[in-house]
Parts: sequence; C-alpha cells; structure tokens
Amino acid sequence: MPLLEGSVGVEDLVLLEPLVEESLLKNLQLRYENKEIYTYIGNVVISVNPYQQLPIYGPEFIAKYRDYTFYELKPHIYALANVAYQSLRDRDRDQCILITGESGAGKTEASKLVMSYVAAVCGKGEQVNSVKEQLLQSNPVLEAFGNAKTIRNKNSSRFGKYMDIEFDFKGSPLGGVITNYLLEKSRVVKQLKGERNFHIFYQLLAGADAQLLKALKLERDVRGYVYLNQEVSRVDGMDDASSFKAVQNAMTVIGFSEEEIQQVLEVTALVLKLGNVKVADECQANGIPASGICDGRDVQEIGELVGLKSKELERALCSRTMETAREKVVTALNVIQAQYARDALAKNIYNRLFNWIVNRINENIKVGTGEKKKVMGVLDIYGFEILEDNSFEQFVINYCNEKLQQVFIEITLKEEQEEYKREGIPWTKVDYFDNGIICNLIEHNQRGILAMLDEECLRPGVVSDSTFLAKLNQLFSKHGHYESKVTQNAQRKYDHSMGLSCFRICHYAGKVTYNVAGFIDKNNDLLFRDLSQAMWKAQHPLLQSLFPEGNPKQVSLKRPPTAGAQFKNSVAILTKNLYSKNPNYIRCIKPNEHQQRGLFVSDLVATQARYLGLLENVRVRRAGYAYRQGYGPFLERYRLLSRSTWPHWNRGDREGVKKVLEELSLSSEELAFGKTKIFIRSPKTLFYLEEQRRLRLQQLATLIQKTYRGWRCRTHYQLMRKSQILISSWFRGNMQKRHYGKIKASTLLIQAFVRGWKARKNYRKYFRSGAALTLANFIYKSMAQKFLLGLKNNLPSTSVLDRRWPAAPYRCFSTANQELRQLFHQWKCKKFRDQLAPKQVEMLREKLCASELFKGKKASYPQSVPIPFRGDYIGLQGNPKLQKLKGGDEGPVLMAETVKKVNRGNGKTSPRILLLTKGYVILTDPKKSQVKTVIGLDRVTGASVSSLQDGLFSLHLSEMPLVGSKEAKGDFLLVSEHVIELLTKVYRAVLEATQRQLPVAVTEQFSVKFKESSVSVKVIQHPGGGGSSKLSCKKKGSHCLEVTVQ
Ligand SMILES: Nc1ncnc2c1ncn2[C@@H]1O[C@H](COP(=O)(O)OP(=O)(O)OP(=O)(O)O)[C@@H](O)[C@H]1O
Ligand SMILES: [Mg+2]
Repeated sequence: MPLLEGSVGVEDLVLLEPLVEESLLKNLQLRYENKEIYTYIGNVVISVNPYQQLPIYGPEFIAKYRDYTFYELKPHIYALANVAYQSLRDRDRDQCILITGESGAGKTEASKLVMSYVAAVCGKGEQVNSVKEQLLQSNPVLEAFGNAKTIRNKNSSRFGKYMDIEFDFKGSPLGGVITNYLLEKSRVVKQLKGERNFHIFYQLLAGADAQLLKALKLERDVRGYVYLNQEVSRVDGMDDASSFKAVQNAMTVIGFSEEEIQQVLEVTALVLKLGNVKVADECQANGIPASGICDGRDVQEIGELVGLKSKELERALCSRTMETAREKVVTALNVIQAQYARDALAKNIYNRLFNWIVNRINENIKVGTGEKKKVMGVLDIYGFEILEDNSFEQFVINYCNEKLQQVFIEITLKEEQEEYKREGIPWTKVDYFDNGIICNLIEHNQRGILAMLDEECLRPGVVSDSTFLAKLNQLFSKHGHYESKVTQNAQRKYDHSMGLSCFRICHYAGKVTYNVAGFIDKNNDLLFRDLSQAMWKAQHPLLQSLFPEGNPKQVSLKRPPTAGAQFKNSVAILTKNLYSKNPNYIRCIKPNEHQQRGLFVSDLVATQARYLGLLENVRVRRAGYAYRQGYGPFLERYRLLSRSTWPHWNRGDREGVKKVLEELSLSSEELAFGKTKIFIRSPKTLFYLEEQRRLRLQQLATLIQKTYRGWRCRTHYQLMRKSQILISSWFRGNMQKRHYGKIKASTLLIQAFVRGWKARKNYRKYFRSGAALTLANFIYKSMAQKFLLGLKNNLPSTSVLDRRWPAAPYRCFSTANQELRQLFHQWKCKKFRDQLAPKQVEMLREKLCASELFKGKKASYPQSVPIPFRGDYIGLQGNPKLQKLKGGDEGPVLMAETVKKVNRGNGKTSPRILLLTKGYVILTDPKKSQVKTVIGLDRVTGASVSSLQDGLFSLHLSEMPLVGSKEAKGDFLLVSEHVIELLTKVYRAVLEATQRQLPVAVTEQFSVKFKESSVSVKVIQHPGGGGSSKLSCKKKGSHCLEVTVQ
C-alpha cells in the first residue's frame, strides 16, 4: 500500500492532517519538488505540470499499472485510466474522464496520456488498430485548427473538447464521437502581443509546396498577412512545416479525401486573404459615409479561389440589406462597420470550418447505430478563468466549470451515499458548499443571467450592455452571490475594484468580476445575411455547405439561437452525459507562469486549488468517513496488531477487524463497520493505526531477527558439535586401527616365528638335518664341477711362457682359480724341468746364478739371458796346445775365452786367453803358449764389475803371491765380452772349490790393488754412447783410471 508507505507527503489528500489550504499546498509542493507530480483525492488525480519529460510514461509503466489496482502503485494518470478502462470493460459501466485546469496546466497532455494508455491496453487486430489510429490521428488535426500559441501555453487548445471513445463488449475500440465547445474565434482576426493565430495558418505557409501555395494564391511570407501576428511567427520547439505534413497525413488516415483536404486548405487560405482586404471611406451622394474595397486584387483572388464574383463579395462586405416582410432596404456600411463585417465573416468562416472538420472526423470514426457499445468520454475543457478583464467568454467558461463542479459534488456525494447505503451505515449530513445556487443564478430558465441576456438580445427597442446590466442589478440585488456597483452602493459598500459596467459573481472557486461590454453582441453572434448569402453563392462545395442559411430558398426569419443559449444547451447535454457515466477526474495545476520546470509558486497554485475546489473535493470525499477499506485487506494489513489475530486467525475477516480494533480501544465514533468495509472517520486514526503497525513491524522484525539469530547459532553449534564428534570418532578410530594394526603385525610376526620355529622343529624331526647344507654343497659342487669341467675344456697351452688363464665363472671360485692357475703353472714348469737334460739343467743353474748376481744391477745382463753359456769361446777342444795350458788335474775347463788385460799403469789393453778350471783361473798370452798367470780360486776374494754395458771387471785377489811367481801381482783388471757368464762361472767355481760365496760388486767405481798401492777405477758412460760395450781407458794421475764406455 504505497499510499501509506514510503510516500513523499501524503499521496491521497483525503489523509491530509490538518485539512487546511496551507498543508494542502505544502504537500503538493513537497511532492512536486520530489518529482511526484500526481496526488490523489480519493479517486481524483491532481496533476501538477512538471514542464519536463519525466521517466514515468511509456510501455513499461503502462504494463505496470495495468497489472495493479488503483492504490497499489504511486498515483498516476495511468492508474486512473486503468480503473476507468477496467470498470468499462469488466463492469460494463460507461466512463467519463474529466480533465480540468487552467490554460497550460497540462489538460491536453493528460488527455493524450489517457488515450495512449487505453490504446495500449485495449484489444489488438487490424480493424482495431485502424480505429485506434483514426482516433489518435484526430488529435494533430484538431490541434492544428484549434490550438494556438498563447502567452501561457505554446500549444494552447482554444476550444473545449469532449471525445467519446466507443468500445465493443470485449473492450476493443469501435470508434468515437467528438464534441467541441466554443472555439475562440476572435483569435482569427486579432491576437494579443506575444501570441499567434491558430497553428494551421503558419503550418500552411511554411509547409505547403510552391505549387500548392500558388494554387491557394498565397505567399510564403507570414508578414504578408494582416491576420497573422508577425511578431511571433515561429514557436520554439515547433516545426510548422513538418507539422503541416503530419496534419495532411493525419487527415488522410482519418479518411479525408484529396479534394476535401484541398477544399479545407482553400477555405483556410480564404480566411487569411480576407484579412488583407482593405476597406476605405467612400462618400455617398447623400453624404452618408460609406465604404469600399481599396485594392480589388485580394477580393479578386478570393473570388477566383472559391468561385465567387468579386463584386458580390465587395457588396456583401460594404453594405447591408435590411429585409422586412414587405421591402428590402440596402444601406451602406461605414468603414468601421465594413471592417467589422469582414472580420465577422472571417471568424465565422473559420468557426464553421472547424465545426465542419469535427463533424467530418466524426463521420469517419462514428460507430454503426446497431452495435451495443460501451463509452469512455474524455473531456478536455478550459478550466476556471479569472483574467484582469473578464468578458462573455470567461463568463461561459466559468459557468461550464461551475456546472462541472456541481456534477462532481453531486456524483461524489451520491456515490458516498450509495456506498453508505450499500454498507448499511447511517448517512449523516455532510457540511459542504453546494454550488447549485450559483448554477441557478446563471442558468435558470426564466431568472438566470443567460436567460436575461437572451431576453435583452431579443427585446425590441434600444438594447445595450448597460441595459442588460441594469436588468441584472434589478433582478439580483438581493442575491448572495451577485454583486455590482449598484448593489454595493445599496448596501453602502465601497469597492473601488468594481467598475460601473461590471458585475461580480461569487463562484465556488472565487469571486470574478465581469465586464458587460460586448455581452450582447457576442451573445447575438449574428452574421449579416448578405455575407452568408454571398458565401453560399460561392462555387465552392465546402464553403457553400458552411453557410446553409445563405440559401435564399431556405430563408427563415427565425433567429438562430444565441451563443449563450447554445452553450447552455451544450453544457446541459454534457452534464447529462456525465451523469449517465461513471466520472473520473483529473485536476491539472500549473505550478508557475513561466513554463519553468521545478518552480512551484504557492500563491499561483493556491488560486488554482481554489478554482478547482480541491479542499472542497477533499471535504466531500471525507464526508463522514475519511477512509474505508474492505475487511479482507484491512485485516491482512493490521492483524499483526492483535495477539488474537496474529499469526493465525481462522474466523471471518469482519470479526478479525473488530477484534483488532477492540484491542486498540479506539473511540467508537471513529469507526463504523459496514457490510464489507470498515470505515474510519478521521485520518488521525488511520495514522495511529499505521504508527502502531510500524512499531509492531519493528517488534516483529526484532523477533524474527532474534529467532533467526538463535536458530543460526544453534544450527551452527550443532553443526560444529557434530563435526567435532565426527572428527574425534574418526581420529580415535584411526588411532585404534593403527594400534590394532601394529599389534596384529607383531602378533603375526611372533606367530610366524613360533610357527616357523615349530615347523623347523618338526621338520628337523621328520626330515634329514643338514639337507640345506647338502643341497648347498650339492649346488656348490655342481658349480665347482661345472667350473672345473669348463676349465678342463678350456685349458691354455702347456707352454711355460704362456701365462693365459681363463677367468673364474663365479666370484667364489676366484681364489681357487688363482690357486689352480699357480698350480698349473708350476706343473708346466715341472714338466718342462723333467724333460731337461742334465747339461741343460746345469746351464740353467748357471743362468739362475747369473740372474741372482746381476739381474737388475748390470745393464748388459738382459742381453745375456737368451744366449746360452757356451763356456768355450776359443775352440779349446780342437786345440791341444791350449789344452796343455791348464794344469794336469784341474779337471775340465769351465770357461775359455780371449779377454783383454788392462794395464793398470797406463790403461792400455793386451789380449790374454783366460781359462777357468775347477781350481784356477789361468791367464795366458795367446801368442805364446806358455801360461802367464795361474790364480788359485781360493785366492780370489771378490770381483767388481760396472753396472754399464761394458765387459770390464776386476778380480780381487788375496795378498799371497800367485802360483809360479815370487811376489803378489795385485788385482787383475780384465775386459771380457762374456763378463756375465765368466763371473757366474767364477762364482760357482769358487763356491764349489772353497764353499765360499764370492762377493761380486756391481759398481761404478772400484779400486784395484796393485802391489803396495791401489788404483781407483771409474767407469763412466760416454755421453753420446749408444749402448755398445767399447771401452777406452785413460789414466788419470797415478792412482786413477777412467774407463769410458762408448
Ligand atoms: N505530464 C506532462 N509531462 C511533461 N510535460 C507536460 C505534462 N503536462 C503538460 N506538460 C507541458 O505543459 C505544456 C502545456 O500542456 P497542455 O497543452 O496540455 O496544457 P492545457 O492544459 O491543455 O492548456 P490549454 O488550456 O491552453 O490547452 C505542454 O506543451 C507540455 O510542454
Ligand atoms: Mg489544451
């Protein structure tokens, strides 16, 4: 219920507290400033012109308001249109929407909003759409001909409009009827400063193409026309040229034929051109002033345009024919009269053209009589007006508004009464202002102001506005709502604002002072017959049809009804129409005079609020009870205020509402229980209820919050607890499982051991022990067998020098393999030894001995190894001479070789034959066959030899003299080619002969004894020596001999 919740101010003025003008204005202002331009008074919509496009219209909003009931959304014209349309469609009630307000307050915009809403929500289909289109397109045509720019409104409707839209039973539009009221025709000839003539003139001049203009005998320049206000030929935000195209198009859509459109434009052009007809003074022969047309061109052109003889027109404009039963008198008109006639003709033509257009539209949108239809009327009519100088027009306009107010009061009160009756609530008299007395003052058939005016117009004799005023003064001198200078004077009231020619009426909306000047004329609204006859004579079908009274055959002397009477009549029809329908009101308010957005001038709005009788509206609406609501929705909204109805209530809504209100102990005067609704007398009570509801809602919200928070904490706690239990159970379970696993594993291990142990025990008991060993041995053996067999088949050659041996197949056999290799080698050696002859054995022993003595010491040793020791190098066997040299029993010669003896004194060498026997070393000169020296082996004390390649060696002897000489000769220094063999054999011979191991020194330097002294022998390697064994001895001093090995 946005009406009560979150609204800016109050959305329904029925709820206004206190109900005074000030608070009403404040409320409207507050809402206006918050762009809430709509406010309700019950089902009346007050609309304050925003002068800006608000984002509250269009299909989206239409869809929204379509789906909700009146009070469910913010106040809006759509809500009102929706209620009206739904009531029409669903409850078969004809509707009317009354839109009133000052000029520029937004009536026409509101009516368009209503129409666009209805067009959007009513049915669809080709036929329906074309009807909709026709209805909607009537607006631009009527606006072009009936609207003009005024100081207050750029697009001011200068006529009243009532449009009946007719629907079929499904709610689809069938057509409509438009009624127009009181076009402001004076505008055709004269406009106020800053205002314009009707839009169509400017649109025609701006939008017609050159050809059309030519055909209409017009010029494009606005300045060429007297009737057009040249000051303001353009209006901001309006494009006359494109509007003209739109009007032409709209006329086509509505169903105007090409010719008709053309004729309408021709008549429009005619009016424009009439303004340019200049009348000048002309003097008649009798001296009476007369008039004539100055420049015949315009008259000529008009004649050509509408098929009229220019003379006819001129005559009609400048003279008047007075016709009585017997004769016809033609009198000339003076200039003023002629101008008046011309202007009257222009106004009349235009007014009739406008009426013709409305009728023509009606012809096209009318619905066949046979069809049953529902009607929605939209009334866009001028509101109450108080100008500085109020004339006849304002009088009739205000009369119309007075009547509409009366309709409103009566209908609203009637409705209220009916509702009370329906609901079974006693009707108490309501204090409100009944404007019936004012309506009577104006419209009473015999004693009303309009009746007096008619009477005055028809009265023979001198009739003037002042006689009319005098009549009023006389008649209404005692009337409470009538005032004039005369009545004031009678009451001794002094009021300088009241003119002599004025009277004042206290309308429901305020006092208005009217000036009677022109009342008679305007009411008569007569067109000289000459003019209408002239027009009828035109060869122009449309123009002719506009002046049927011009037809001489139809001349009737009966006066046409006066303007006042006509208007009264149409107002009567309108009110009758409205009474037959369900009314919906839109009250438009203009917030400022400057058409400025956001500006709210309180005084201005206050005046309008008074004209519109808004306070009066609220009072009537609040007659008795300010607020009512069905029991169901009321209980739904307020049942939370009672513990009995909240949260559950199983009994009826009415009892529920009673229960709630009882508990709140409200005054019984404040409430009335109808059959279906509860009535609340003052808004205060409703606000009290709302306040209680707000507090209760807070309580409930707290309760809900509390419960919810408690529930949330509980569930959270439960969840945590559950989770904690789950986690700990999992943890414990897991721990126990692991513990159990360990115990199980240990048990299994122990079991396995025990079982193994038992099994082994049993096994041992039942099977041979050591089977594994046997098996292992077997395997080992078989491996060894395999290894040995493999070895056997793979044995290397039996050559002693062949050291090859296969690798062991398994690592465990590697030691054995090495052993076997060793064994095999030794076996090969043994085999080799066994097959040697004793000689070879001996030789090898010698070689062995040589190896022990020289291996690794003497450079020439390795060369000596492969060479067998021959022993005899001089052919001893075949030389008996040499055989003799050895002693008789020394046995065989072990070694016979030619050596060189080094002279210890000078280092020179001389050859000698050396023989070695088992007991001696014999040296002899090869040239002489005599033994030179015999050395017993027992005298040989040692031998020295160099480590080089050379064959130099020294035999060290003991001090005893040699065999066959007297004195000791000293050590021998010899050079042998087979020094290794020689010394080896000497060593063995000494060993054998003396059981003594001869010391053999391998050295670079040794001393050789000679007699008493000794010579030091130094063996050196010649630096460039290539390893031969050539020697050169050099004596160095007496005790040193240097031997160089080449
Ligand atoms: N609801 C609205 N939203 C926006 N602008 C609006 C609205 N109503 C009125 N207006 C503005 O106010 C101007 C005058 O409105 P409108 O022509 O409806 O006034 P009116 O009451 O019909 O005046 P008149 O009696 O002179 O015909 C419009 O041209 C438009 O600019
Ligand atoms: Mg308007």
